[in-house]
Amino acid sequence: MKMKLNISIVLLALLLSTVAVAQNARIKIDLDRKVGEIDKLLYGNFVEHLGRCVYGGIYEENSPLSDENGFRKDVLEAVKGLNVSITRYPGGNFVSNYHWKDGIGPKDERPARMELAWARLESNRFGTNEFMDYARLMGTEPYFSVNMGTGTIEEAQQWVEYCNVKEGPYYAELRKQHGYPEPHNIKYWSLGNEMDGFWQMGHLNAEDYAKKAREAAKLMKLTSPDIKLIAAGSSNYRPNADPNEWNAEILAELRDVVDYLALHMYVGNPEDNYYNYLSTPLVLEQRTHIVKGLIAREMEKANRGNREPIYIAWDEYNSWYRARDEETMAGTRALEEHYNLEDALVIAGFLNAFVRNADIVKMANMAQLVNVIAPIFTNEEGLFLQTIYFPLQLFAQNVHGTSLDVFVESESYDTDEFFIGLGESTTVQKDVPYLDVSAAYLDGEVIINVVNRHKDKAITTDIIAQTGAFDGLVEIKEVNGPGIKARNDFGLSEVKTVTKEPVKAKGTILTYSFPAHSFTQMRAKIKQ
Ligand code: AHR
Repeated sequence: MKMKLNISIVLLALLLSTVAVAQNARIKIDLDRKVGEIDKLLYGNFVEHLGRCVYGGIYEENSPLSDENGFRKDVLEAVKGLNVSITRYPGGNFVSNYHWKDGIGPKDERPARMELAWARLESNRFGTNEFMDYARLMGTEPYFSVNMGTGTIEEAQQWVEYCNVKEGPYYAELRKQHGYPEPHNIKYWSLGNEMDGFWQMGHLNAEDYAKKAREAAKLMKLTSPDIKLIAAGSSNYRPNADPNEWNAEILAELRDVVDYLALHMYVGNPEDNYYNYLSTPLVLEQRTHIVKGLIAREMEKANRGNREPIYIAWDEYNSWYRARDEETMAGTRALEEHYNLEDALVIAGFLNAFVRNADIVKMANMAQLVNVIAPIFTNEEGLFLQTIYFPLQLFAQNVHGTSLDVFVESESYDTDEFFIGLGESTTVQKDVPYLDVSAAYLDGEVIINVVNRHKDKAITTDIIAQTGAFDGLVEIKEVNGPGIKARNDFGLSEVKTVTKEPVKAKGTILTYSFPAHSFTQMRAKIKQ
């Protein structure tokens, strides 16, 4: 009898010690810890004349799927699901040899040109006015890039005149002749694209770029004083480059003039290492912090009157590593990346990072909208939604209001040394938490976004309300699939958003188990 009792005590002690080890992860939500207002421009996108983004993507003349203007109706419907707040156009590398006057006036009289950035023939049948018609259908804010490569500052000024001046001068009157009596009023203009990249047509060093951009800005602002200008920050993170030297110099030279600094980032998983790849949003966040510091330094010296400080526009981001050789980067089928679940989790991580840094990141544009490293993929008969569509859609539709500074405690891992993106330098990331979290508060509700990076383990988590208490049913949406390589295709939908059974919550602790390799979005009411 005594022996039996001893064994039971030992078993109980063992059980208790296991319980103590398997502590739940914790997320603390404190409504008083505010990061800043989430700008709706975080959910932007990008249309470049590249591959089948425009022709065969959003625009396909003579297709039974298109309307009378050549816009693909099925694509437009899928685009609308993304609530695209701002759309950048027309490039990208394309813009550095694009002369906007080629793309206006009667379509049959427009010149076809060699497109040198991505090796294609550019018919110019889609141009400024076609894009603006499409932007109106999308309900998106247009954002144009001017050519700072082979273009002149005069050409940039004339484009602003064509788009934004009501009447009088030549280019405003020309727009009216083209059937647009009212100005397009394009508010956002970037001063070139990736001008620090040796691959850019008309690439410049920082000093020359800053000089040209400053003078272009002067003419553009004199033409349309209320426009917002975006300077080309560094996109060259190759081992022998010094991106922050470029960023610092551009900020110092243009600190009184521009409203945003543009940053770009593409990541990938060429070595097929899931955990390394899933840590890449942290690298984006580190780059954000460094540039935030550089901006703060310049804002102390800036003379901006009552204008807001300079913000960061991550105006190109995505995963892009498969379509990266000579063959897949040229012609009409360029950059046709086919995404899987791990890519979708990386995109959710990027969006979490933007929300966590909502005080400084005020614009972000996924590159690109259709076919070209894109969430929507077409053929002549239809389309499918790529895996990365789903997290972007959930953020764009639901994550608004105030970004909260969230406390997260979960197990973590260290990565190996790896390449962040193709051609880029290497990194090691330490203490990467398995749970990657952001939260937003709006009108009595908190939206909690959680990526569980763990490949095989669900993570049971206590979500703790530090101010007030949870109240009522918590809505839960999950993006997941049968495995990390799960994909979508024509007739195949392995990765999508699934609405889960709502969870009843009362009190200050909501316990939930986040499934392995998933993105979960929760909407909970908080009673104060
Ligand atoms: O989005 C594809 C390309 O990536 C863009 O044209 C360029 O700006 C970047 O290098």
